Amino acid sequence: MNSILFPKPRAFARAVLPAAFAAAPETARRREAEPASRGEGGRAPEPSIGNAAGSGDTGAAIELRGVAKRFGDKTVLSAIDLNVRPGEFLAIVGRSGCGKSTLLRLLLGLETPDAGTIRIGGQTPREAGSMARFVFQEPRLLPWQRVEANVALGADRRLPAAERQRLACEALTEVGLTDRGGEWPSVLSGGQRQRVALARALVSHPKVLALDEPLGALDALTRIEMQGFVERVWREQGFTAVLVTHDVSEAVALADRIVLVEDGEITLEERVDLPRPRRRGSPDAAAIEGRILQRLLARA
Ligand SMILES: Nc1ncnc2c1ncn2[C@@H]1O[C@H](COP(=O)(O)OP(=O)(O)OP(=O)(O)O)[C@@H](O)[C@H]1O
Ligand SMILES: [Mg+2]
Repeated sequence: MNSILFPKPRAFARAVLPAAFAAAPETARRREAEPASRGEGGRAPEPSIGNAAGSGDTGAAIELRGVAKRFGDKTVLSAIDLNVRPGEFLAIVGRSGCGKSTLLRLLLGLETPDAGTIRIGGQTPREAGSMARFVFQEPRLLPWQRVEANVALGADRRLPAAERQRLACEALTEVGLTDRGGEWPSVLSGGQRQRVALARALVSHPKVLALDEPLGALDALTRIEMQGFVERVWREQGFTAVLVTHDVSEAVALADRIVLVEDGEITLEERVDLPRPRRRGSPDAAAIEGRILQRLLARA
């Protein structure tokens, strides 16, 4: 069995399915309207960290203090201090093998830190449960389940089947695939499959969405389309987004803030105070991209 398409059951369940009988069901409401601060050129406001959980209509704050992770003798992350505001879009960049995916896995409780603390909405990643969801580079859909059933897998299993189905339909509409619920994953394009994976993550209305190179396998045009799509869904739903990407221009297109991980630490932080939706190739965007690339290439 292909371990990429069919990840270890525990990891799959933890990342994709709601935490079994976690805290009270999420009552996250979809935001009716964008707050003024998210409008043209706006950034999310600066609410205090750690007080967003349960507020219902916004993302959860993320707080990492002195987080370290080793695999055997190898220290991958040595001292990560990071605050992500509720509803912020953070991008993480860095060279291959620097520990980006490890950092996301720590956030989701799929790995345990060797030192330091991680809080999501004031809770440990395990307590946070279905408050946080993961989208991987590969859609990881079950080929023997139709699209709608794949999406329903992400819904709270305590809900009646009819309600899970209703939520799945709603999430498919959210990602522009209203009419595709009855199809098999195999007949969808790569971009459509990734949208199904996004719907599966969104169906429980998470407060944190971790995205690990979610568009990395797509062709350039589809990738650009999907970037706009991810931004739209983020703006509508208000979750806190943490995106790992190799593509610095993608980070600049989407993020409020970009951090660079090197040698187990965050060594560079760039705020992206550009109006949304962002214009590709604008001089301001190019300047930010240039500074990050310069830093990355200096270490080559
Ligand atoms: N479960 C594990 N056991 C042992 N080593 C691991 C494990 N997971 C990750 N590593 C190691 O930790 C380091 C960081 O891996 P990670 O996957 O976080 O890197 P990355 O920044 O996501 O890289 P890429 O950009 O290539 O995806 C690598 O050297 C990797 O081999
Ligand atoms: Mg990785």
